[in-house]
Amino acid sequence: MALSSTLSRLNLIPRPWLPYKVTTLRALKLKPQLLRPMWAPLTLSSFSVSAQIHRPQDDNLVVLGIETSCDDTAAAVVRSSGEILSQVVSSQADLLVRYGGVAPKMAEEAHSQVIDQVVQEALNQANVSETDLSAVAVTIGPGLSLCLRVGMQKARKTAGSFNLPIIGVHHMEAHALVARLVERELQFPFMALLISGGHNLLILAQGLGQYIQLGTSIDDAIGEAYDKTAKWLGLDMRRSGGPAIEELAQEGDAESIKFSIPMKQHKDCNFSYAGLKTQVRLAIESRNINAEIPISCASSQDRRSRADIAASFQRVAVLHLEERCQRAIEWALKIEPSIKHLVVSGGVASNQYVRARLDQVVKKNSLQLVCPPPSLCTDNGVMVAWTGIEHFRMGRFDPPPPAVESEDFVYDLRPRWPLGEEYAEGRSEARSLRKARIHPSLTSIIQASLQQQH
Ligand code: KG4
Ligand code: ZN
Repeated sequence: MALSSTLSRLNLIPRPWLPYKVTTLRALKLKPQLLRPMWAPLTLSSFSVSAQIHRPQDDNLVVLGIETSCDDTAAAVVRSSGEILSQVVSSQADLLVRYGGVAPKMAEEAHSQVIDQVVQEALNQANVSETDLSAVAVTIGPGLSLCLRVGMQKARKTAGSFNLPIIGVHHMEAHALVARLVERELQFPFMALLISGGHNLLILAQGLGQYIQLGTSIDDAIGEAYDKTAKWLGLDMRRSGGPAIEELAQEGDAESIKFSIPMKQHKDCNFSYAGLKTQVRLAIESRNINAEIPISCASSQDRRSRADIAASFQRVAVLHLEERCQRAIEWALKIEPSIKHLVVSGGVASNQYVRARLDQVVKKNSLQLVCPPPSLCTDNGVMVAWTGIEHFRMGRFDPPPPAVESEDFVYDLRPRWPLGEEYAEGRSEARSLRKARIHPSLTSIIQASLQQQH
């Protein structure tokens, strides 16, 4: 990827979330001997000492967040008061166009090329230096391990050089928790629908790190279905497939093609988009649409036909979300009757049609929808920094790494890392077919550590 195009893209990132310029920052510096590691071993004695130490100065924390789990290289600096001091994202748009998806080795290389600049730009925009930071937060999973490694390396290098604690962040938890930065009234328990390129999750968030998984994707996630549909329709993939479909769908007739709604017969909250993808592919083939001809060059009849497919796909893809959300709300209210909010986050949540339809479902159930602004729905460093802050306040972090890391150091990366424990009543046949996990869920790790404290 050309460096110049990356940098100009960096400059294009709007900064509506910078309410003021920081002049002085009194960052909390931690004594390494008082730090208690959180993420690595499960056999820890206690986190309580560090938790007590940090709490009184909570609002002085300044955290750098680094995100490289997929195809965006992102960094941000956030204060524990909720102020976003900077936000920088560098996308691999040209690679997406060339390969029609994320190719791990290429993505890793692209991250490596820009990571230093992205982090430096985040510090510059925030008007801080590493010595002003209280900690570094970094996504450690789930995601592509080659890509996660680039962020982790940078985070450990920065933390090691400046004696800063480090917080390993769960990517999907970050998508959910950024809603608490946006909507300060949002208290636990709440529900969250997380819709991105790699995952669909419906969770009940009972507390920080305490999640019940009500539903998940049994095959492709909704974002993947948007991306493939866009590719097969010959759309401009430079901003990823989702926005291209959303735009084209406005011209089409959403009722023109009767795609069937996935998983109707499964009365659970899981998701499946592989079948819908196949239906879309067949519809495209039967209409002789040639993806080699970009939509900008298509005849008006051809364009109309592509728009009808985009609109019909979107309608059914979102109907599947609506049905799952309705059931999940019923389940969640049985477990936690005090729930008032449904958070919708992840890249696909930036779609206005998705938001409008889910808002209706939520209102029908007398709940409130919380949707972060689009720049915080798609992958970003703010959500990582904020989630880092939330855990840091609870005393959950790793001590600063050594200034010079030994060459054989093995990074604790978690490419397949469930967020919460499955809701027993919601476990479906379809789901049980795909059980491969590498790590225990975030929630089970936190529960184990809490038990050790008592
Ligand atoms: O959360 P995200 O930025 O990255 C992952 O964690 O995967 O989500 C990326 C996904 C992509 O599949 C992209 O096409 C989709 O979010 N997306 C959208 C929209 N904007 C991004 N899908 C539908 N409509 C959009 N406006
Ligand atoms: Zn994401």
